Amino acid sequence: MSKLRPQVLVVDDEVYICKIVVESLSSENYDVVSFTDPAKAIAHIREHPIDLVLTDLVIGEFNGVQVLEATRAEHNDAVVILMTAHPTIQTAISVLRKGAYDFLVKPFKLDALKAAIRRGLSHQKIQRDNVALKSQVEFLKVANAFGSGIPVDKHLQMVLSSCKAELNASATSIVEIEPKSGEIVRKLHDCDDPSMVEVVLDETLLLQFTCSRSTKPVVRSEHVTVDGSPKIRVLISQPILIRKQLHGVINLLVESRFDRIRPGEMDVLSILTSSAASIIANNILYEDVQQSYMQAIRALAAAIEARDACTAGHTDRVSRLAIVIAEALGWEESRIDDLRVGCMLHDIGKIGVPDSILNKADKLTEEELETMISHPMVGLKIIHGIDLLRPAIPYISAHHERYDGNGYPRGLAGDEIPIEGRLLAVADTFDAILSDRPYRKGAPLKVAVDELIKHRGTQFDPELVDVFIGLLKAGKVDLNDLYGRDEDLSFLDELDPEPATRVSETESV
Ligand SMILES: [Fe+2]
Repeated sequence: MSKLRPQVLVVDDEVYICKIVVESLSSENYDVVSFTDPAKAIAHIREHPIDLVLTDLVIGEFNGVQVLEATRAEHNDAVVILMTAHPTIQTAISVLRKGAYDFLVKPFKLDALKAAIRRGLSHQKIQRDNVALKSQVEFLKVANAFGSGIPVDKHLQMVLSSCKAELNASATSIVEIEPKSGEIVRKLHDCDDPSMVEVVLDETLLLQFTCSRSTKPVVRSEHVTVDGSPKIRVLISQPILIRKQLHGVINLLVESRFDRIRPGEMDVLSILTSSAASIIANNILYEDVQQSYMQAIRALAAAIEARDACTAGHTDRVSRLAIVIAEALGWEESRIDDLRVGCMLHDIGKIGVPDSILNKADKLTEEELETMISHPMVGLKIIHGIDLLRPAIPYISAHHERYDGNGYPRGLAGDEIPIEGRLLAVADTFDAILSDRPYRKGAPLKVAVDELIKHRGTQFDPELVDVFIGLLKAGKVDLNDLYGRDEDLSFLDELDPEPATRVSETESV
């Protein structure tokens, strides 16, 4: 069982000195054992937790320095006080250099002995607190990471790293479950030794809470042999609870020579588990909000499409085409999430265009065209001030800009046009040519590709055209799924895209 009182060991070949010291310390809050045989004392040091050793310098044939060295080797923060009846300055300097904390000259008053022990233990406490404070830097990092937008896995990994440091564990893990189904949704670990991964990820550690509904941590210890040395392996499992529901477990594996969990360590684990619970709860809420947000955007996109007979399914297809290009450009996931929103909302401004213009099969009059080309600016006005929709701005504002500066609404050119707008222009036009319209069938792939090449460098960013055609060649665009028809791709192999020499307008508006 854990020994929380300071463990004091007295070593002296004089029986009466051992007796006097043990008796005088009996009123203090220590566990004291004494040995007259230094070999037995060293054996005890190797097998038990020790906080302070009081040893004679000359113990028969033995030297107290051997006890000092054995203590330092086995317990790096134990305090050693040496006693001698024959002090010399050289001896004092020598033992202090070897790591002794103090040096008592016999005969000494018992009050002086008690004071030396108290000083030694308080010095030890300061040292231990310092170590704990250093490790709490990690702990604070976890707290400070709240609200910083770091990914949930990374945040939970920080909790694991703090658990490992605070409890001196060699392996830690988090297993998160979906509370209703019990399905595992996340498994993370931090292990010094890869062979311990399966020990801390063992699913029976979770089952002990799902079956018993216990909310208290479970601590199990067993004697094991590691590299030929006997050790005690302590496995601690702490349930992660959110509003009294089990959401998972944090497991820790602590291997030590002694079955000793220091005061406060379980409290620290409990605090860190609460942090993990908050991270998981926040993530669930965030995902709920994201889901509702995406549903609202989809509803908006559907409302736009419902008014425009030409664009049934257009938004979804354009999103899918744009995602394929963005992935080829190496965009990260969060940027692709923004792209989805941008693609869905890029024509939201068409809400402000009357049906008679939106669905007119004939050529638009100048006035009608003016109304039609106002839709990017109308779109910007609609989403103005809605923070959640900010990522859609470059898509809405720039999808009708042209690479040569002859587009609208601002007439930007080349790299002045946000890449989001340049990318969407390629996907938007490609889909407009391939998809069916009320007054005509969708054109074959070759027509769309020829159009992209013809306007490469004038209407479209030439690099993006090349990337897109490369994706078509590589079969990365599923035309059958998008347009319900198989296309002959063989003509793509003969293509040698050249910059366009002529400017003409494509179908997309
Ligand atoms: Fe548009």
